[in-house]
This record gives sequence, C-alpha cells and structure tokens, in this order.
Amino acid sequence: MKILLATQKPFAAAAVKGIREIVEAAGHELALLEKYTDQSEFVAAVADADAIIVRSDKVTAEVVEAAKKLKIVVRAGAGYDNLDLEACKSHNVVAMNTPGQNSNAVAELAIALMIFMARTQFTPATGSEIQGKTLGIQAFGNVGRLVGAKAAALGMKVKAIDPFLTAEKIREGGAEPATDLKALYSSCDYVSIHIPATPQTVGSIGYDLITSMPKGATLVNTARKEVIDEAGLEKALEERTDLKYVTDVAPDNMDALRLKFGTRVFATPKKMGAQTAEANVNAGLAAARQICDFFATGCTRFQL
Ligand code: 3PG
Repeated sequence: MKILLATQKPFAAAAVKGIREIVEAAGHELALLEKYTDQSEFVAAVADADAIIVRSDKVTAEVVEAAKKLKIVVRAGAGYDNLDLEACKSHNVVAMNTPGQNSNAVAELAIALMIFMARTQFTPATGSEIQGKTLGIQAFGNVGRLVGAKAAALGMKVKAIDPFLTAEKIREGGAEPATDLKALYSSCDYVSIHIPATPQTVGSIGYDLITSMPKGATLVNTARKEVIDEAGLEKALEERTDLKYVTDVAPDNMDALRLKFGTRVFATPKKMGAQTAEANVNAGLAAARQICDFFATGCTRFQL
C-alpha cells in the first residue's frame, strides 16, 4: 500500500525516519509531500495514495474525491477540524486521530505563554509571578489535565470545567470544578482554552466572557483561533486595558491587535504547540502504526 505523509508543516526528521521504518517493515511504501505551498499540490499527490497521514493539512472533499484508492486518513494529532468527516464517510474512508500523543508539548507551551505574558514578554518592565494565581482550564481533556498538573506544581490554584466530565472526575484530575463558564472566567487570573473547534464552540469566547475576567487577567489560547469571537476580543481589550491575550493561533485581526495593544497581546509566528521532536515522534509513529494495524487486521481504534 502507498502511504502519503502530507505535512505543510513538516515533522522532525526523527519522526519521518520512524514513520518510514514502521511503514516499510509492514511491507508498505512511504511517499512524502512536505512544505507544500498550494492545496493543489496536496490534491495532486493523493491520486494513488491508499492512506494519508496529515497534521493540520486540510483533508477537504476535493482531496478525498481525488484520492480514488484512499482507505484511511490519520490526523497525527488531536484536533480533527481539518478533516471533512462527511466526505470521508461517503467515500468509505476511515478517519482517525492520535489523541494524547502531542498533548505534553501543547501543555508546556501553554505554561510558557503564561510566564511570558506575566513577565511582560521578556521586556524590562516589572512583571508578576504565576505562583499563587488562579488558573481556569476550559476543557479538562488530555492537554487540559497536563496544564493543570504543571500549573499546580508551579504553585497555582487550578479550576476547570468540562461538559463531558463530572465534578468528581475533575476533582480526581486535581482541579476544582467550576459551576459554569462565567464562574470560571470571572474567578481566574489566567484562563487556558483547550476546547476543539466545532459548530458549537466556534466564536463562543467573546466580549462577555473575556470582560468577566478579574483585573489583570490573561486569556491563553493554544486551541483553535476559530473558538474566539475576534471582534468581541478586540472590544474587550479596548475597554479593559488591564486584560491580556496570548495565543498559539493568531487571530485574523492580529496585526490590528498588536498595533493597538502592544505587549498586552502576543501570537506565536506559526502554530507551534505540537512542534517538538518528542510530539512529532509520538504522533507520527502512532499514526503510522494505526494505519499498518488497519491494513493488517482491520483495527479501527481511534476512528472518528
Ligand atoms: C493538534 O490538534 O493535535 C494540535 O493542534 C497540533 O497541530 P499541528 O499538527 O498542526 O501542529
């Protein structure tokens, strides 16, 4: 079988090597499409692929239709808002993700971004410490739980909310459950977002929630830019000159935000949450193994 690794943002060399070893040991062939600049290159490359491994690459209906031999696509990572699941389903293509494999890298970045903002983006201005502050975690899944544990180890008080978890489960994970989202935002010096982008969550974090945060609070987004109502964020930052926003996924209005708010806002130049050698190896190798298992035994664990 031909397995295409299509990564606009390439994996670390160690991950590519490991993927190749797994694929070839199982008797399959690996093709690489890295750093492509136009979606048409991806569409062309899938023509003879039996399987595809992607990161945030967009597996659209056009891609699925062009991949006449495609049987399985694996998103090496957690968020699968880049996969057209309807198109996969209608073409009998199995879609999977690799949950948890890159979570630690994202969690470490969330902590780093908090400290970076607390220290006024490493400018000489007087900063603050995160010890003793309260962190609210919006969605207590693989990443959220790791952020909570690391923050607690740094002396932060940790609260969390998750629509899929009971208060008891949140307590077991080491956080104090918040009664609702407003209660979380209004009682936390930092809120770290870990929700996926779905029709229910897109644009769900806006003016009301952000302005309910206490004086000097910082909103941290290592999830998806789409979950933020960008106009609402801008208005909130205009009115509340004490609030800060830091993100791994730059909003469309980032240039305007930077001009208006200076060091109160920061976005990484390119999404880098999962961009560590360890996360690349974990997620990439898991994807390769899932595909080989699927071809060998029909295993559909992690099917979306
Ligand atoms: C994920 O959903 O797993 C992360 O956002 C990582 O995305 P990336 O593979 O594009 O870095």
